[in-house]
Amino acid sequence: MDNFMFHNPTKLIFGRDTLQSLKAEIPQYGSRVLVTYGGGSIKRNGIYDQAMKLLAEMDAQVFELSGIEPNPRLSSVHKGIALCKEEKIDFILAIGGGSVIDATKAIAAGARYEGDIWEIITKKETAKQALPFGTVLTLAATGSEMNAGSVITNWETQEKIGWGAPCVYPQFSILDPSHTFSVPKDQTIYGIVDMMSHALEHYFSGSPHTPYNERMVEGLLTTVMETAPHALANLEDYESRETLLFCGTMALNGVINQGMNGDWATHSIEHAVSAVYDIPHGGGLAIIFPNWIRYNLDVTEAKMKQLAIRVFGVDPASKTDREIAEEGIDRLRQFWSEIGAPSRLADYDIDDKHLTEMAEKAAPSGKVGRFASCSTEDVEKILTMCL
Ligand code: NZQ
Ligand code: ZN
Repeated sequence: MDNFMFHNPTKLIFGRDTLQSLKAEIPQYGSRVLVTYGGGSIKRNGIYDQAMKLLAEMDAQVFELSGIEPNPRLSSVHKGIALCKEEKIDFILAIGGGSVIDATKAIAAGARYEGDIWEIITKKETAKQALPFGTVLTLAATGSEMNAGSVITNWETQEKIGWGAPCVYPQFSILDPSHTFSVPKDQTIYGIVDMMSHALEHYFSGSPHTPYNERMVEGLLTTVMETAPHALANLEDYESRETLLFCGTMALNGVINQGMNGDWATHSIEHAVSAVYDIPHGGGLAIIFPNWIRYNLDVTEAKMKQLAIRVFGVDPASKTDREIAEEGIDRLRQFWSEIGAPSRLADYDIDDKHLTEMAEKAAPSGKVGRFASCSTEDVEKILTMCL
């Protein structure tokens, strides 16, 4: 394993009827609370009303920032920062999926920064402090509820950039599986693909001797694959939603990948595609990941062979390592297709027009990926396989 230090300060509050914990958690930070949310799902499913009632009971003075977009925009972040500064906000409560939480992280850091938050997102500066914030997660996918990462899109420059800092771990995150009942089928599928992709990014790692981490990743993948059909057949099945919610958090809160240096090129490539075409993150990953593994088989073969046998049920008898790995990739593709995820860029009407531009965005320094280092030419070839 690589040397590691692990510290995750986010308090995870998980289970039925946990929303009421807001009353114990928020007052310690002050009474001026900015509530951030997206396009209105929380109003339709009732979480907004419940949270507002609890905030009223604790005599909080509530301000709101609504309309945070999926693939959240820098413009929304700027609005939130201005609100925090003008209204002297003490605490931010993010209610939503990864996009609302990611935007809130940038708002929290921007509220305690003199310059433009874009300098921090583009890593010219580092966030040293942030307003405290908590989250009520409504969609199982990104793990943003228990990590210090955030991904923001600057639509003017068509850049989608991931950044992070220890000061933007949420103080707490409330995860009630019933809050995810109203997530529509397509978003549920994208969430499943995203959490599986986080597990896969960790798995394709060059760190030596990581047997337990690999088993944790395999366990997470197996569990999600067993659960997905039940969750999709009955979107209000509490136990399936509970499992997906827990797996989504565990896939990217740092626990299963300690001492393991994952690849992450697929995420960079997907971010480049959604910077140009604004497609859902999980949809893009479902298209790109199998092609990334296949394109890099000279490097990925041993890990993919192990996954094929342990997770995808491939029978290795009388097959070469390459054949086993390739069958594993086919089964991954088949699983994602069976649950309804897209498999080609054409599914989003994306053609070859911007491939070079997206490849350059994915690998701005000329190379991307820690396990299988890909040049911009390699990325363009992978994207061509995705068409
Ligand atoms: O905006 P509202 O009306 O709330 O609707 C949202 C949105 O349209 C809807 N939704 C969320 N919860 C719902 C619901 N609809 C009904 N009922 C509910 N309970 O779902 C749509 C998608 O929401 P979004 O937050 O965009 O999805 P997700 O959680 O998948 O987040 C995606 C973003 O996170 C980034 C992605 O790149 C993308 O921008 N990521 C963040 C990461 C991180 N911070 O660690 C890691 C990931 O790899 C990822 O890159
Ligand atoms: Zn992701």
